[in-house]
Amino acid sequence: MNENTLRMTNISKSFAGVHALHGVQLELHSGEVHALLGENGAGKSTLVKVITGVHQPDTGEIYLNDQRIHLGDPREAAAQGISAIYQELSIFPDLDIAENIFVGRRPTRAGGLVDWRRMYREAEALLSSLGIHLNLKTKARYLSIAQQQMIEIARALSVNARILVMDEPTSALTLNEVADLFRIVRRLREAGTAILFISHRLEELFEIADKVTVLRDGGYVDTRSMDGVTQEDLIRMMVGRTIKDMFPKKEVEAGEVILRVKNLTRKGSFKDVSFELRKGEILGMAGLVGAGRTEVSQAIFGVAPADEGTIEIEGQSVHITNPGQAMQHGLALVPEDRQHHGLVLPMDITDNITLPRLTHFTSRGWLNVKDAHGAAYQAATQMQVKATTVWQKARELSGGNQQKVVLAKWLSTNPRILILDEPTRGIDIGTKAEVHHLMSDLAAQGIAILMISSELPEVLGMSDRILVMHEGQVTGLFSRSEATQEKIMLAATQAV
Ligand SMILES: Nc1ncnc2c1ncn2[C@@H]1O[C@H](COP(=O)(O)OP(=O)(O)OP(=O)(O)O)[C@@H](O)[C@H]1O
Ligand SMILES: [Mg+2]
Repeated sequence: MNENTLRMTNISKSFAGVHALHGVQLELHSGEVHALLGENGAGKSTLVKVITGVHQPDTGEIYLNDQRIHLGDPREAAAQGISAIYQELSIFPDLDIAENIFVGRRPTRAGGLVDWRRMYREAEALLSSLGIHLNLKTKARYLSIAQQQMIEIARALSVNARILVMDEPTSALTLNEVADLFRIVRRLREAGTAILFISHRLEELFEIADKVTVLRDGGYVDTRSMDGVTQEDLIRMMVGRTIKDMFPKKEVEAGEVILRVKNLTRKGSFKDVSFELRKGEILGMAGLVGAGRTEVSQAIFGVAPADEGTIEIEGQSVHITNPGQAMQHGLALVPEDRQHHGLVLPMDITDNITLPRLTHFTSRGWLNVKDAHGAAYQAATQMQVKATTVWQKARELSGGNQQKVVLAKWLSTNPRILILDEPTRGIDIGTKAEVHHLMSDLAAQGIAILMISSELPEVLGMSDRILVMHEGQVTGLFSRSEATQEKIMLAATQAV
């Protein structure tokens, strides 16, 4: 039979003094979904890049069906049937779906001309084998993240991937999209593909994975069957301690209204959105991805102002047309797409954290490096950013640690109104609890928090009140005591 086994032993990899991996082992079999679990910076993505030939390990061996192999670059890995879908998708927005699937490998006819008909026919066949029906001529920029991901899976299959690595494929998906993705993953498993699956959401692993390998600080902890472990076991293996108090919401008496939004409207995005936010309150904003929550928050913060409606801060009508003005009014926004909007990758951690307040650390044109460093160090420590020093470049950090730097940056602006768009996406379970503690503390100090989240346990666990949106309109408002998962889902999927 076509039994495939990828076996890796004693894998180590360092980057300029950082031991990203040491002595790691992993065994992947065809027809199994193998989860890779660990805190932010534990070495998961680095291991993925070793498997796909992006990085060459300093020590260790890789065997495919007991044959020792050497993966000098991603091309060699692809030739062995190894493909990956990375944390950051690699989609070309101006190419259409079929072109994206066959990018760099378009089928040609004798004479070297591209065989367009064959390309579209094969793309169609690939997508329907995944149960997906999309117009192949659609430009990738018009696709949702979930759809873009499907295209990447189709691309991996088009090179006959027998080993498929998925690095946090679900972090930007809605519940329904995750269900679709899992349907495809199961289909691939049945067809004999070996799948390595990374996710910070433990519930998902219990749903989809057969086995789990845990990494901690670049080291190998254990490999277990998912049947034989509990959530608590996994957390203990991952962080070396147990975490209680997952949603540490403090009871806070809400103060006066600090933000009042009335009939906010932007054509094509959202309509007649009205709500109030009080001091010390956490207002959760629930809904499916694409419901218009991010657009509303961007309108309030002046990134893309609304066409109609009013915004009042402490009873005063304000006209905010850019983020600078919003910050002067005491607003802060932690964006959802932190890679692109929240972080300057070539800059170090200190500069990234102090960026919004540079004038604060500057006198007569000189930056007070010591103060900036102190502030950055404090914020980075509070957020448990894993880095060698606060001078390390943001691009060298793991995905989750980049997220933490962005959170640290905005929390250190001492806002009165804090808007958090998916605050714990991609963040490991230990730090997630830490972020929730911090939110609870900030609210207790009187800061008003608007929290957009697609994770229902987070919304239910952390919010005083919950506003639900569907297709650009508010479809529900619930108090903490009356809210349930069912009520929120119903409002999120139903028009008014
Ligand atoms: N190119 C690089 N240069 C320097 N250090 C790096 C580089 N790539 C990764 N590292 C370091 O290696 C360690 C492991 O990072 P990795 O990205 O593998 O973590 P991860 O487990 O994928 O975390 P996350 O859950 O946050 O995505 C981190 O300390 C990271 O800063
Ligand atoms: Mg990673």
